[in-house]
Amino acid sequence: MYDMRKVEELIARWENGERDAEMRKVRNEVFDVLTLRTIYKLMEQKYILRLEGVISTGKEANVFRAVDPSGEYIAVKVYRVETSEFRHMWKYLEGDPRFARFRRNKRSVIRVWAKKEYKNLEACFRAGASVPYPIVSRDNVLVMEFVGEDGEPAPRLKDCVPDDPDGFVEELLDSLGKIYYGAGIVHADLSEYNILVRGGSPVVIDMGQGVPWEHPFAIDFFRRDMERLSAVLSDLGREYTVGELVKVLEERGKKGGGKA
Ligand SMILES: Nc1ncnc2c1ncn2[C@@H]1O[C@H](COP(=O)(O)OP(=O)(O)OP(=O)(O)O)[C@@H](O)[C@H]1O
Ligand SMILES: [Mg+2]
Repeated sequence: MYDMRKVEELIARWENGERDAEMRKVRNEVFDVLTLRTIYKLMEQKYILRLEGVISTGKEANVFRAVDPSGEYIAVKVYRVETSEFRHMWKYLEGDPRFARFRRNKRSVIRVWAKKEYKNLEACFRAGASVPYPIVSRDNVLVMEFVGEDGEPAPRLKDCVPDDPDGFVEELLDSLGKIYYGAGIVHADLSEYNILVRGGSPVVIDMGQGVPWEHPFAIDFFRRDMERLSAVLSDLGREYTVGELVKVLEERGKKGGGKA
């Protein structure tokens, strides 16, 4: 549990050269001192009251459950700076007209990456898709809506079967239509790992790598997404070819009145 006092104390101890077991543990939890300062700023600005447990520790990022000053749960995604594969990120950044210029050091690439996830979520949310509502991004930290119930994070589609698979599929196709053809964003890492199931309905997450159609590899990412989607839907008992999926998503995205 990290509240403002704790974060302040950790920053002071780090600056003081202390490197005991607790400081090493904090570091392993993705908190280098710059990240601690970023979290501190977000606390000062009243986006975060305190960080609670870790929901997920991944290769690229850790996701925490947190609470905002009004007592609402929020999710805080902290991208790793030290160990992240930031060179791999260039492929998804270069050619995105929204980020025409970015500096090629780790920290700036990861800052832009977090901002990209924020912008992608924002565009998809505005288009009416079921994605976590983005609250703020600052440096390598993204604050967004917590997807879950009573503080319990929603499971991934990978780990559960929705009660009403047909209804779930319909909602998923609607949301994906709004993402790809309403907001005009190709997710680029669509899979049963990045779809959460909340109250029987899908929520699409993890949009850092998402690119607009203008991106030079958008079509390749799109094809890969559609192949994976076809497999995901097949597991839910619905068979679609990639060609059929393109038509279905296009139709549903345009129906929503997006700008495709
Ligand atoms: N807004 C959220 N609310 C609740 N849980 C979330 C939220 N965002 C992410 N999670 C949880 O954290 C996990 C990892 O998040 P995400 O997929 O965005 O990160 P990632 O980029 O895949 O990280 P890595 O690939 O390094 O594991 C998700 O599978 C989900 O369980
Ligand atoms: Mg993921």
